[in-house]
Amino acid sequence: MVGSALVRRFQIESRYELVLRTRQELDLTNQAATRDFFNSQRPDVVVIAAARVGGIEANRSQPVEFLVENLQIATNTITAAYEAGCQRLMFLSSSCVYPPTCPQPMREEHLLTAAPEQTNEAYTLAKIAGMKLCSYYRRQFGVMFHSVAPTNLYGPGDNYHPERSHVLPAMVRRFHEAKMQRLPEVRIWGSGTPRRELLFVDDLANAVAHLIELPNPPDWVNVGTGEDLTILEIAQTVARVIGYEGQIHTDPTRPDGPKRKLCDVSQLAATGWKARTDFVVGLKATYADFQAQLAAGVLRSA
Ligand SMILES: NC(=O)c1ccc[n+]([C@@H]2O[C@H](COP(=O)([O-])OP(=O)(O)OC[C@H]3O[C@@H](n4cnc5c(N)ncnc54)[C@H](OP(=O)(O)O)[C@@H]3O)[C@@H](O)[C@H]2O)c1
Repeated sequence: MVGSALVRRFQIESRYELVLRTRQELDLTNQAATRDFFNSQRPDVVVIAAARVGGIEANRSQPVEFLVENLQIATNTITAAYEAGCQRLMFLSSSCVYPPTCPQPMREEHLLTAAPEQTNEAYTLAKIAGMKLCSYYRRQFGVMFHSVAPTNLYGPGDNYHPERSHVLPAMVRRFHEAKMQRLPEVRIWGSGTPRRELLFVDDLANAVAHLIELPNPPDWVNVGTGEDLTILEIAQTVARVIGYEGQIHTDPTRPDGPKRKLCDVSQLAATGWKARTDFVVGLKATYADFQAQLAAGVLRSA
């Protein structure tokens, strides 16, 4: 999802020549292949969006793969980029690196102030290692390697797996199916009261384009909207955009998850950037993409 948004964003600028490889062409867990790629291409700027990404169940059942592959992707790409002479690199981390107990909204300095979230500890540890490796390269060798910690993302190219997807794509799928099947009600997990922040993926791509041009960016910076909605409000908005007219009920017997996960975006705002895409506008684009993928028989559901 993010890689495609970055391509959409950078394609429109003639001063960038994109060097792209599919995963089949270049497996970033393969150190030798990654080195060969960087040595032959010698990119000026590197943005690392590749990662093993997944929901709670995938993280719970495969912590070894989540830690090893994400560590390999981070260390292979960052070291190979440096060795190939790259001076500018951005690593995509995640706001899930902040401890679940940290004050809300979450600020950059809350990193490593307490133990990470248990449900995705392996993924989180690898992301923190990648962020720190960038900081260490910057400090030790003077190259401009830095990171972003984006909040929950949504947009074209998301994963719509019925059990394994994130909250927003899961809702898009459920409300779409409920509309098609004319179901009288949709039940959403939990009380509906936890609050979540959602960022349109093309806004993230714009933030990346902004940050990689700054002469002295922060070592890592949160990227979000700085605003959140309750799960029920998100569900109601998704239903409205999709055109589902039945009832929405909450199910308080199901777990709620964290009450709030909101990024403090004041550091990002101080660099002169803020998110611009209205939630309804982003949702309409997301739903249009969902319908197009579904009609073409290529809806991502892995
Ligand atoms: N989605 C979110 O809400 C969110 C929030 C915060 C941060 N992020 C971060 O943003 C980045 C992109 O996430 P996303 O949502 O765009 O996930 P995604 O759609 O699953 O994209 C990850 C990409 O990495 C590729 N990849 C995985 N392992 C690879 C390997 N060994 N070699 C080469 N490519 C590999 C995947 O290829 P395949 O498709 O072939 O598997 C996929 O194209 C990640 O670093 C993630 O941590 C995402």
